[in-house]
Amino acid sequence: MMQDYLTVNIDGQEIKTRRGEKILWAALDNGIYIPNLCAIREAEIPFGGCRICLVEISISGKSKIVTACSEPVKERMVITTKSDKLSRLRTTSFELILSNHEIDCPSCPGFKKCQLLKIAAYLKVKVKYPERFKRIEKNLPADLSHPNFGYNPNKCIKCGKCVFACRGLLSFVNYGLDTSISTFNHTPLGELGCDACLECLKVCPVGAFFER
Ligand code: FES
Repeated sequence: MMQDYLTVNIDGQEIKTRRGEKILWAALDNGIYIPNLCAIREAEIPFGGCRICLVEISISGKSKIVTACSEPVKERMVITTKSDKLSRLRTTSFELILSNHEIDCPSCPGFKKCQLLKIAAYLKVKVKYPERFKRIEKNLPADLSHPNFGYNPNKCIKCGKCVFACRGLLSFVNYGLDTSISTFNHTPLGELGCDACLECLKVCPVGAFFER
């Protein structure tokens, strides 16, 4: 019978973890932070959209870069979470997200919990519009139709956490740069019969969903 646990090496530390566990959760459970934005532990199929959680893995002398939220641990895996190469790759992913995110930190309702600020500090970069990517300005109206919470699509980073948490009323719409989160037929939030559990707001890593 297969053992339920195996040992991997993360940044030089031997870690015992559940067989089949994704690298991200094995690391976080053991106090090793890997920046991440779209990872949902309960999701059967990882979304893997933000590309912030990149790590380098090596098994039997072969190395490659993978997303920690989608790659399961394997016996004798050696995992590196910090290197110049990873920093460069993560910074590129991060800047792409910033180029498509309305930045107004001082007045943002998500300022206190903002994961972009946490990741910027980790990467030692500023939260500002990146020079090397074109800024995508959406200028879309916020949905203020619900008395308990609102949604500002200009701040949405398309991590999909609200879609997963809501399980019904929210979904991804459109493709590519036009991807956004919306409701069936773009029905205003206040007309959906939403019972305001506020799960969307709790899981939003930025200030796209906010309390009113
Ligand atoms: S957290 Fe892994 S790709 Fe977003």
